[in-house]
Amino acid sequence: MASVDESRQRLLATTGAIIGGAHADATLDLPDIGLAITALADHGRLSDAAPDCPNLVVELLEAVDIPNDSLGQAMLTALCDTAPSLQWVDPYADRTDQVALRAGYFVAVLVGDHARETSLAFGTEASIFVTVQAPHILYPPHSHLAPELYYAVAGTAEWKKGDGPFEPKPPGSWMVHEPWTSHAMQTRSEPLVALAIWTADLDCAATLDD
Ligand SMILES: [Fe+2]
Repeated sequence: MASVDESRQRLLATTGAIIGGAHADATLDLPDIGLAITALADHGRLSDAAPDCPNLVVELLEAVDIPNDSLGQAMLTALCDTAPSLQWVDPYADRTDQVALRAGYFVAVLVGDHARETSLAFGTEASIFVTVQAPHILYPPHSHLAPELYYAVAGTAEWKKGDGPFEPKPPGSWMVHEPWTSHAMQTRSEPLVALAIWTADLDCAATLDD
């Protein structure tokens, strides 16, 4: 059985393989994704932040349908193996009105700084994080200065961008959110596991549009 350290390295390697594959795919127009590759190469290891993993995160990772593609499968396996060793945070801890969102939405930073506002000083060119969203949770429309790339690792949720409708995006989908473009995610019967990448302006915060 792989050690936790080996699993954590495999999580980063799989993240790199997903991002590298997208970078090499001429059919995908993902601006600035090269910055994420540089950040991964420069960083080399996961943060030593104190582990903090709610039981629900483990349950959701075990419950979500295994994706059909091999990279998604590898990513999900690596996440299941490493989730208890990661620090999962509640990015809307200051929003006491967002009870449902805060009970069902979790973020773990893979590359970058957990406090976000110091991530540029941390020396990374991009911020890469994993999100886990429970079933029947709306992550309401929100926006931020940082340009963002999302990869759906497992679970089909409905994604909304700008004034567009909510549309189901299956595992393997990439979503691009330009600076200050409002976006939202609605899970239905299954959880959503996603990879998110901020490629610039890392020292900004995401704010709900309300
Ligand atoms: Fe975002």
